[in-house]
Amino acid sequence: MGLERVSKILKIADEANTSVIAFNCINYDMAYSVVTVAEEVKKPVVIMLYPEHNYGFNNTDLRGFAEMVKSLASKVTVPIGLHLDHSSDFNYIMNAIKEGFTSVMFDGSMLPLEENIRLSKKVVEVAHTFGVDVEAELGRVGFAADSDEENPDMYTRPEVAAEFCRKTGVDSVAVAIGSAHGVYLEVPKLDLERLEEINKATEKPLVLHGGSGIPNNQLEAAFTKGINKFNVGTEFFQLYYDSVFEYMKAHEGEKNVNLLFEMSNYVQNRLMDYLREKMKLSKC
Ligand code: 13P
Repeated sequence: MGLERVSKILKIADEANTSVIAFNCINYDMAYSVVTVAEEVKKPVVIMLYPEHNYGFNNTDLRGFAEMVKSLASKVTVPIGLHLDHSSDFNYIMNAIKEGFTSVMFDGSMLPLEENIRLSKKVVEVAHTFGVDVEAELGRVGFAADSDEENPDMYTRPEVAAEFCRKTGVDSVAVAIGSAHGVYLEVPKLDLERLEEINKATEKPLVLHGGSGIPNNQLEAAFTKGINKFNVGTEFFQLYYDSVFEYMKAHEGEKNVNLLFEMSNYVQNRLMDYLREKMKLSKC
């Protein structure tokens, strides 16, 4: 089928009153597992690259990642989206578009509101001329390790969200309603009332970041109140790491180089078991 626009995938989710799941991936094992399970359960999915996994850790290359996801998408019948996660660097985003990303996030959540509006709009103007979708962030999701999710001062305000959407023309908005990136210190509690108000005040699909570790009942409620894209990173990466660790431990001391090649199969199966369960949350 080939890549589908993320805005189209979010529309499918919105019409089904649910959320699509977006997974951070760093390599073929992860992306292959996501696309294979999406095809198996016949649900759309989004694959995201976090910029630091490109320019920081050199886990992958921008064009290589985009081509890999395009190739995987071309072999299945379900819609697959490709998205660049959190970047506040205009030039990096432009480069990602040039290298084949069809959806990007401009993260201006650390900036004063007017600056976030100005730069989000600037990204939208260029991205849209290339048919690329833009997600922005309003309020600040922050990091679980800093207990950011407990700070309501950083939460998205419905009336500001309405103004932000009107002035920027973004395709979707990441909202701060009590989730945070990374491992939560305590079970998070999403502000679902606020989410409902934001949803009423805006026409845009809303995005929930910091998806690892939020109880399913809260997620399901959030999906019926306007969340159409739900980002998962940490728990998927942790499982990848644990699977490699288990495999190495099971073969400790063995000096057979084929074990390296066979590791992908082990890891992919572990990831796919997790993905089959996780994808049940999405009803589209
Ligand atoms: P977690 O790593 O907390 O799952 O968050 C992922 C995310 O929001 C990526 O944008």
